[in-house]
Amino acid sequence: MPDLELLDCGDGRRLERFGRVLVDRPAPGATMPRRLSAADWAKPDLRWSKGGWVRGAAADSWPVRVGDLTLECRPASGGQVGVFPEHAVTWAWLDAAVRTAAERLERPPEVLSLFAYTGGATLTCARAGARVTHVDSSRPAVAWARQNAALSRLAEAPVRWLAEDARAYVRRERRRGRHYDGVILDPPTYGHGDGAWQIDADLPALLDDLLALCGARPSLFLLSAHTLGYDGERLAAMVREHIGVGADGAPLALDSRAGNRLDLGAWACGGVHGPKPVARKRPSPARRP
Ligand SMILES: C[S@@+](CC[C@H](N)C(=O)[O-])C[C@H]1O[C@@H](n2cnc3c(N)ncnc32)[C@H](O)[C@@H]1O
Repeated sequence: MPDLELLDCGDGRRLERFGRVLVDRPAPGATMPRRLSAADWAKPDLRWSKGGWVRGAAADSWPVRVGDLTLECRPASGGQVGVFPEHAVTWAWLDAAVRTAAERLERPPEVLSLFAYTGGATLTCARAGARVTHVDSSRPAVAWARQNAALSRLAEAPVRWLAEDARAYVRRERRRGRHYDGVILDPPTYGHGDGAWQIDADLPALLDDLLALCGARPSLFLLSAHTLGYDGERLAAMVREHIGVGADGAPLALDSRAGNRLDLGAWACGGVHGPKPVARKRPSPARRP
C-alpha cells in the first residue's frame, strides 16, 4: 500500500492517508459530493477545522515513504503536513530527466530548485545524480528540508541549502554569470521574502531572469502552480514564451481510492533532456462500501 493516498474528497474537504495517519482537511476544489460514508470520515487522526489542527491519535511528526525518499510529516500551518502528494508525478518526471541529463552531459547536472519547501523535488534530483541549489525564503522550511535529506540518507549529497528570496537570489546569480542545466519552481500565489511575492506580478520577470541562468536549451525545466487560472496550457505557454524551450502542460490531480478526482493545480515541463509528461488515466470508480 502506498504511503500517500487520497481516500475520498467532496463537500469542500479531502480525506487522505499519510503513512499511518488519516488526515481530514479543506479542499476548495472538492466541489463534488463525497463517496465514502459519514462513518468512514468520522475518525481522522488529524483534522483541520476553523484555522487549526484538532489532534486525534497523530504524533508531533511521523515519516512517510515516497519512492526512494523518506519525508517527515508534521501538522503545520495553513492545513499543510509538509508533503504535497500531487507532486509525486512531477518527481517521477524529474528523476527521469536528471538521469538522462547526467548521461548526456557526462557530468552531474546543476539544478536550481526555487520555492523548494520541504525538499521533495530537491531530494529527487539529488538522488538521481544532480547537484542542487535549494532556495526557499522560510528558514523553518529549509531546516525541514535538511531533516528530510538526513531521513532519506542524502545528508552528504551535493545540495546547497539557502534561506533566501527566490527573486533576489536569481538576480544575484544572473549578475555573477552563473549557469544551471535545469530549473524547478513551484511558486505560491502569495509569498514572502524581500517584499511580498505575488504570482501574477512577479512570475514573468522571474522567468526572464531564469532564461539568463539556464539559456534557451535547458536540460530540464519544470514550472508548477496551485493558483486558480494557471492551468497546464497557460504554464506551458509561459515556459515557451519566457524560456524559449518546448513545454507540455498537465493538471496536478489526485485520484481517490473511492473513485473521484481532486484537481490541485497544474504543471508544465520541458527541456532537451526531459521526457513528455505521462497523461494520467482516470481510475474506474471503486464500489461504494
Ligand atoms: C507551494 S510551496 C512549495 C511546495 C513544494 N514545491 C512541494 O511540492 O513540496 C511554496 C514555498 O515557497 C516559499 N516562498 C514563498 N515566497 C517565497 C519567496 N519570495 N522566495 C522563496 N521562497 C518563497 C514558501 O516558504 C513555501 O515553502
